[in-house]
Amino acid sequence: MMQRTLAIIKPDGVARGLIGAVISRLEETGLKIAAMKMIQMTKKQAEGFYKVHAEKPFFDSVTDFMCSGPCIVMVLEGEEGIERYRKLMGATNYKEAEEGTIRRDFATDIEKNVVHGSDSPETAKYEINYFFNALEMISG
Ligand code: CMP
Repeated sequence: MMQRTLAIIKPDGVARGLIGAVISRLEETGLKIAAMKMIQMTKKQAEGFYKVHAEKPFFDSVTDFMCSGPCIVMVLEGEEGIERYRKLMGATNYKEAEEGTIRRDFATDIEKNVVHGSDSPETAKYEINYFFNALEMISG
């Protein structure tokens, strides 16, 4: 099934010069970039983005981190795009991520884990619409 997913290169990835490395990996796996921009979120915007985690102990810290610098936000498109991109990222905790995944190779911390990806079709819809309108996305 053709799917779209929301991908973010987080502030640690941008600051460490990993934009090119991350984008190369997604292109190598055949995922298409349907939209892309660089933004810096406010605390409120980061809280809205991560609202499903509002009750978690790491909510305040992760929302501080996500607005601490610019991010690259992208819409990726491909067959089984959500799962393929999740496999490419690796587990949230880089210590548990498989070899060859972005997080295993580049992450330094469970929070500073370089990339974000939607975890389900419902989340993907919410997250894509959070950052992009239809005119900003290429289809096909
Ligand atoms: P992400 O996949 O973007 O979703 C929530 C983010 O919260 C996660 O990546 C991490 O950056 C951050 N985070 C910090 N601590 C934890 C934790 N214990 N479990 C899950 N996510 C965490």
